[in-house]
Amino acid sequence: MSATPDTPLLYVLRNELHLIGPRFGCGLAQCGACSVLLDRKEIRSCVTPLVAVTGKSITTLEGLPSLWASERAKAAAAPALHPLQQAWIDVGVPQCGYCQSGMLIQAADLLSTNKRPTEAQIRAAMNGHLCRCGTYPKILSAIKQAAAVMAKERAR
Ligand code: FES
Ligand code: FES
Repeated sequence: MSATPDTPLLYVLRNELHLIGPRFGCGLAQCGACSVLLDRKEIRSCVTPLVAVTGKSITTLEGLPSLWASERAKAAAAPALHPLQQAWIDVGVPQCGYCQSGMLIQAADLLSTNKRPTEAQIRAAMNGHLCRCGTYPKILSAIKQAAAVMAKERAR
């Protein structure tokens, strides 16, 4: 089936472009599993029609290393992983993994705009994302670790 202007962005990303980072969770903008960046701001792709993203930049989980390369002061080739992805591995965040793409996208949005967020700011930013496995404390630790690494790399 080909996409129409009303087709949700999530369906186009997964079914036509085969980008499987964003997931279908609730389909109602409630859980964050489908989150992507639209012009670097987190959106829920399950409720965003294709027509709303025409001419705009979309970043999925797959694009996070390139996003980080574009944010660093020094021009460099895209690293294998965004510092958030590395921190997720170091801290051992995922359990079933279903929510994690959306969590990483939201965290990338946060650290693009607020380079050293407080714990309260991290909690507030991540508040709209649900994890049935309860990985919230590890997510908090991983975001703090990534923020520190990113601050160091930006200063180089
Ligand atoms: S699937 Fe989009 S917010 Fe839940
Ligand atoms: S890791 Fe299982 S839902 Fe979050």
